[in-house]
Amino acid sequence: CGIVGYVGSRPALQIVLDGLRRLEYRGYDSAGIAVIDHSVILTEKKAGKLANLEKALADRAGDGIAVGPTAIGHTRWATHGGPTDRNAHPHVSADGRVAVIHNGIIENFGRLRAELEATGVEFVSDTDTECAAHLLAAEMRALRESGAEDGPQLLAEGMRRTVRRLEGAFTLLAVDVQVPDAVVAARRNSPLVVGRGDGENFLASDVSAFIEHTREAVELGQDQVVLITPAGIEITDFTGAPATGKEFHIDWDASAAEKGGYDYFMLKEIAEQPQAIAETLLGRLSERGDIVLDEVRLTDQDLRDVDKVFIIACGTAYHAGMVAKYAIEHWVRIPCEVELASEFRYRDPVLDRSTLVIAISQSGETMDTLMALRHAKEQKARVLAICNTNGSTIPRESDAVLYTHGGPEIAVASTKAFLTMLVACYLIGLHLAQIRGVMYADEVAAVVSRLRRTPDNLRDLLAGMEDVRALARDLRTASTVLFIGRHVGFPVALEGALKLKELAYMHAEGFAAGELKHGPIALIEEGTPVVCVVPSPAGRGVLRDKVVSNIQEVRARGARTIVIAEEGDEEVRAYADHLIQVPRTPTLLAPLMTTVPLQILACEIASARGYDVDQPRNLAKSVTVE
Ligand code: G6P
Repeated sequence: CGIVGYVGSRPALQIVLDGLRRLEYRGYDSAGIAVIDHSVILTEKKAGKLANLEKALADRAGDGIAVGPTAIGHTRWATHGGPTDRNAHPHVSADGRVAVIHNGIIENFGRLRAELEATGVEFVSDTDTECAAHLLAAEMRALRESGAEDGPQLLAEGMRRTVRRLEGAFTLLAVDVQVPDAVVAARRNSPLVVGRGDGENFLASDVSAFIEHTREAVELGQDQVVLITPAGIEITDFTGAPATGKEFHIDWDASAAEKGGYDYFMLKEIAEQPQAIAETLLGRLSERGDIVLDEVRLTDQDLRDVDKVFIIACGTAYHAGMVAKYAIEHWVRIPCEVELASEFRYRDPVLDRSTLVIAISQSGETMDTLMALRHAKEQKARVLAICNTNGSTIPRESDAVLYTHGGPEIAVASTKAFLTMLVACYLIGLHLAQIRGVMYADEVAAVVSRLRRTPDNLRDLLAGMEDVRALARDLRTASTVLFIGRHVGFPVALEGALKLKELAYMHAEGFAAGELKHGPIALIEEGTPVVCVVPSPAGRGVLRDKVVSNIQEVRARGARTIVIAEEGDEEVRAYADHLIQVPRTPTLLAPLMTTVPLQILACEIASARGYDVDQPRNLAKSVTVE
């Protein structure tokens, strides 16, 4: 979910709505806002995208909601209770005193709800959040009855008492009708940042919500409560003891969060990939030829002691991890397992001090990955994060981090983050190989210099994608599309299928090409499109020949083959109904090229089918629940 709060002297509504628009990628099932104006809470909330809320608000232009100086707003990705107007946030307490918005899941909400209902509170929604609103109102009432006075401090203390009773993950924001110029917030396991303004302050799930107003931000720590007023920011822990957050300056270019002439963020982000890779590589090689990582709190000796690597991630990041396994095992010669973060901790993995766990996450907030990371740390494993978002939770809880520097990724379907994750994985693989003496500095430098050529290769590739666009229009009515690949081409096939599912809502599946004959080949009918990712004929020629055999097998059964192969590989032409050529690259680095036509294919098919490419149904970019 996306969360925004504002206090200051300007009308809060527009500022919060603009912030919500920038956070809409975090969830867009429903949206809502609460404004405090002259001792009244004014709310509006609507199922569906933010535009529905804006439409409803347009009728209220003459109302206090348009001018009040304090507001909180929310865009939702439903967990408890379907995406309806009623379940949209904010939720107002039964006594009309406070309004609350929430990101996360309150796990003990069933018990709390029963307890509150026993005191006569009537719930009007199915959400877990509503119980936080009633609980906060009850705590504040109890405080007043014991002599506390109305004001921001009462609101903050009420919040602290409330969160001490909650279990689970939450960022909560609340406003109080009697306090016209304060917003209080609490954070446990879900993201929250404060924006420091001049005579005004901001709260948000991430900085993009207030980047146009201020560049000075404070990241809240775990289990902290913050009170913002026009005059300042006050942070405590959950018991009320003063605490401090981490101050930082935002150096993102604000225009990076704009579409810049493209129809969709996704198209812009696909086009930014050459630059994103270049940024990830920038400054990574020291003069001596060593790989330089950021924030490494692991010694070289720790890395030499590693005898096993586990990679944990979700979604697209998991596919990056699968590619990394091939590179790490090949270069470093130690076992490397890749696992879906959501499965990892529940099967009791065998880890110890000499295990290196690599957690890959664009957002740094994915709850499944975070929980897997914590489990790994409990087992004493060392954790290294690969992440695109500075200051997010996953890197903060890791022993070391390598930031991908890909810039903000707004489209829900990951593109540039995926390629930069791959680059980061390659760098880590090379670093481990070098430190452990399995690769010499000049061998590492040779791979890095090859990596440095990939942005140019990618620019060439992106310039010639017209045929892929035409093909996409042609495929828009297909009922199923299959993807096959071997070696690093296998995760590329999975990623191609995932993109098509998430964007075009089409049935798509990726397979290891060799596995096809053991079952999935039965799916092939006359005309079934099969996308085949062909390895380079150089180096591992055997691999490529095997894939070519697999292509022949599917073709013999009527498949329409869409072949992705290296420039110069003319032999595959005979087996391709459509041939998409990509620049030559060493086998392990090939996913940096072969993934890109698949991103464009999915994006164009989705747009030809009339779907919202940036915000596919049912999804959210950062899923902060397990
Ligand atoms: C969500 C997104 C996916 C993404 C996954 C992991 O499910 O919809 O596109 O790959 O989370 O996200 P992360 O931020 O951890 O890379």
